[in-house]
Amino acid sequence: MEKINAAITAVGAYVPEYRLTNKILETMIDTTDEWIKTRTGIDERRILKGEGLGSSDMGFEAVNDLLKKRGISPDEIDCIICATVTPDMVFPATANIIGDKSGLKNAFGFDISAACSGFLYALTVGSSLIESGRYKKVIVVGVDKMSAIVDYTDRTTCVIFGDGAGAVLLEPTQDPIGVMDSILKSDGSGRQFLHMKAGGSLKPASTETVAAKEHYVYQEGQSVFKFAVKGMADVSYELMQRNNLTGDDISWLVPHQANLRIIDATANRMSLPKEKVMININKYGNTTAATIPLCLWEWESKLKKGDNIILAAFGGGFTWGATLVKWAYDSK
Ligand code: UT7
Repeated sequence: MEKINAAITAVGAYVPEYRLTNKILETMIDTTDEWIKTRTGIDERRILKGEGLGSSDMGFEAVNDLLKKRGISPDEIDCIICATVTPDMVFPATANIIGDKSGLKNAFGFDISAACSGFLYALTVGSSLIESGRYKKVIVVGVDKMSAIVDYTDRTTCVIFGDGAGAVLLEPTQDPIGVMDSILKSDGSGRQFLHMKAGGSLKPASTETVAAKEHYVYQEGQSVFKFAVKGMADVSYELMQRNNLTGDDISWLVPHQANLRIIDATANRMSLPKEKVMININKYGNTTAATIPLCLWEWESKLKKGDNIILAAFGGGFTWGATLVKWAYDSK
């Protein structure tokens, strides 16, 4: 029997309308547009405003966009996997809530918590479901409402993050295209540098944890930066070596958008010129699990069938990884 590959056959996304610019941040905290631009590459980020709106609302928009573009009914979806660290609630899974809002009546769903690498983890798991031959249509969503867990008085974190959602559809093919290979890694000892202190079973929410601001992102930026630069570049290089690819064979690098300096280091290690690197951190900041599908969505019209694309990420956990995708379609 021919091997079944998992092809990405559609991309959808959603970003909120409200733009939190560096200029606005200058009025909120002790920072400057110049510091943020030179240290991170970010000009503005989108924020989901409005009562009663959570990650599932952005995920729903991305899934809707994807279903419309592919021209299929929600009933056809077998499974939805949602990568997020900002679920609507601790349980049930946000995938289930997106499924309900999108009318996915025949799909099972679950969440994956791998922070900034969440989309790559979910894409790898979703691809395995397709490759098994048992499932025909799997949606992978990467969504985060980082504004829900960011302290807007902490200048070291609030300038970095933004909100957004992206989704891809995976379908089987026997052509040599689709999600071809993946190297995923994690090291839990890195949790000390990037985590949320309270709200889990270790330290449940209390008036004390709220007063101590322990429900926000805690990050030791410089330490994370050092691990991220090495981790993302090493794993991308390893994936290229394993697949006998040189920089010339790669059409696009799709890096997690955490810091322009981390992106540049990864591209250098892969011997890729800037023109081959998808960068939209300037517009959206770090949307955690959504950065990679947001790039695919924005660059979709430029992608060609057969393009070798490397997706790469590093984030909380620590988690990191790289995935090789052979693009499956030309845009209409
Ligand atoms: O996606 C999840 C994984 N996360 C990442 O990959 C993030 C990795 N880390 C980073 O991207 C960077 O470490 C940051 C962007 C978070 C910070 O940049 P940095 O170049 O590492 O700055 P730093 O923390 O070393 O701080 C340098 C200085 C400090 O002042 P002093 O001590 O030198 O006087 C900070 O207090 O910059 C100060 N600073 C700021 N100044 C103006 C920190 N944040 C700001 C700010 N505006 N927003």
